[in-house]
Amino acid sequence: MHLTLVRMAGDHRKGACIKIVVIGGSGLIGTKLVNILRDRGQEALAASPTSGVNTLTGEGLAEALAGAQVVVDVANSPSFEDTAVLAFFETSGRNLLAAEAAAGVGHHVALSVVGADRLPDSGYMRAKVAQEALIRSAKVPYTIVRATQFFEFLGAIAGSSSAGDTVRLPPARMQPSAAADVAAALADVAVGTPVNGIVEVADPEPLPMDAFVRRFLRAHQDTRQVIADVHARYFGAELNDHSLTPGDNPRLGPTRFEDRLSRSLPPR
Ligand SMILES: NC(=O)c1ccc[n+]([C@@H]2O[C@H](COP(=O)([O-])OP(=O)(O)OC[C@H]3O[C@@H](n4cnc5c(N)ncnc54)[C@H](OP(=O)(O)O)[C@@H]3O)[C@@H](O)[C@H]2O)c1
Repeated sequence: MHLTLVRMAGDHRKGACIKIVVIGGSGLIGTKLVNILRDRGQEALAASPTSGVNTLTGEGLAEALAGAQVVVDVANSPSFEDTAVLAFFETSGRNLLAAEAAAGVGHHVALSVVGADRLPDSGYMRAKVAQEALIRSAKVPYTIVRATQFFEFLGAIAGSSSAGDTVRLPPARMQPSAAADVAAALADVAVGTPVNGIVEVADPEPLPMDAFVRRFLRAHQDTRQVIADVHARYFGAELNDHSLTPGDNPRLGPTRFEDRLSRSLPPR
């Protein structure tokens, strides 16, 4: 009989060093997460194509996962085009979960988006829902962390909705998280017990999307004019006040929007 050893996650002695592989470890969240885990004394391996680990081709995956107790998937698709992004999260998710099962990984942690399942008109959100479905149907114990839009993503939101000097955005409420707070939440989840469910991470201060982006652009002396438009689409989807906001019990990040804003500006 072939027995696969599943390394138990969540029962680590306090302070015990475990091997945690961060897929997408060179990205915005991945870099911060690897640093936090290493600062806390964990063996964190940053894995991505830059370091020879590719979840689409499988290159380097088995070697990276050897001896790992936990894998945190914070990879992102290089293309947000509907077909490409779906193919990325499906192929990457399948390869990664199969490699984890073969390696006996005890906890799969993945970063998804608050409200992903409420926005079927968005190709990106459909891809995240497909990624989550693969995780639920796999045998590896898991925790899906759904975060709200990153504060650091507000400029990209403006860019995706710009026409000339005008940015047209829905006035739907959102609670953007600081990337550092999301990484800290992932670090806690990675050394905890798999919940086989969803944990939400958000900022406590809700504001309409157009208001957040207007404040962000003004602070960065970007002269584009932000116009509130209930029918403006956010990556293909119309939004309401419940589309991007978390449920009753999110983990709230400690960093305030105004603090983040001032820290994001170049020194005077
Ligand atoms: N943006 C938001 O507001 C938001 C909100 C909630 C959740 N999320 C989720 O957060 C996650 C991380 O986002 P991010 O902004 O930190 O991403 P990012 O900065 O764009 O980094 C993407 C990472 O994915 C890696 N990658 C790309 N192709 C790969 C492949 N074939 N195999 C393995 N790794 C690959 C990249 O590696 P290389 O550098 O080596 O190419 C890089 O490390 C995403 O899953 C996203 O859905 C985002």
